[in-house]
Amino acid sequence: TEIIIVKSQEEAGRIYADRTAQLIKDKPACVLGLATGSSPLAAYQALAAKVKEEGIDVSQVRGFALDEYAGLDPNHPQSYRSTINRTVVEPLGLDPAKVRVPNGNLDTIKDAGHEYDQAIEDAGGVDLQILGIGTDGHIGFNEPGSSLASGTRIKTLTEQTRIDNARFFDGDINKVPTHCITQGIGTILKAHQLVLLAFGAGKAEAVAESVEGGISSFCPASALQLHPHATVIVDEAAASRLR
Ligand code: F6R
Repeated sequence: TEIIIVKSQEEAGRIYADRTAQLIKDKPACVLGLATGSSPLAAYQALAAKVKEEGIDVSQVRGFALDEYAGLDPNHPQSYRSTINRTVVEPLGLDPAKVRVPNGNLDTIKDAGHEYDQAIEDAGGVDLQILGIGTDGHIGFNEPGSSLASGTRIKTLTEQTRIDNARFFDGDINKVPTHCITQGIGTILKAHQLVLLAFGAGKAEAVAESVEGGISSFCPASALQLHPHATVIVDEAAASRLR
């Protein structure tokens, strides 16, 4: 795993933006793996700025998001579909029809995971997957204990994750969905290139465990050690527990 320590989220964002812009120039119909959460926001902003400045054609770019709440209307402002539209599709000017988010509709969720993995495969795989990391080492909604070989599937959200996410639902945990659909760790590992971003002291333990600990389902992000082309970009606070 390549580790890059940066001074700021903006610097991390520029590294992501440079790599992704180059990818789009080399392969106009490339496939971007997208994440929600706060960690990738500066990266998306930097990429949007670069696309605008350099007039890069993104009309053919495709995207697959990591995860979605189950049983939440995709039009709900806190659905990951809405979040990806707001933070990625609109600022970059992507074609919304080319950007997929897992389908959390409860009526069809039994097959939705398998169909999503098939769609990624049919697209030729994800070229560059951006990732955040949870304080417990989760990636996507793969909490500790998730199989390292897992595909996209429905999962129960942990109590802690529901508490953490209540801030997006009027501070009311009862409004937070109880389940989600998430790319599996096995799905994520199939991407050709991974870029994990982590900022702040709260992530330091999870980063150290992921990069320097043993590979274990109890730290889902440790699976990055199995990937031949993974980069971890951290600020000094998030790097503070690395040896
Ligand atoms: C986002 C996701 C999560 C987040 C992680 C970190 O789609 O699947 O794994 O990447 O919870 O969240 P932030 O970046 O908000 O600290």
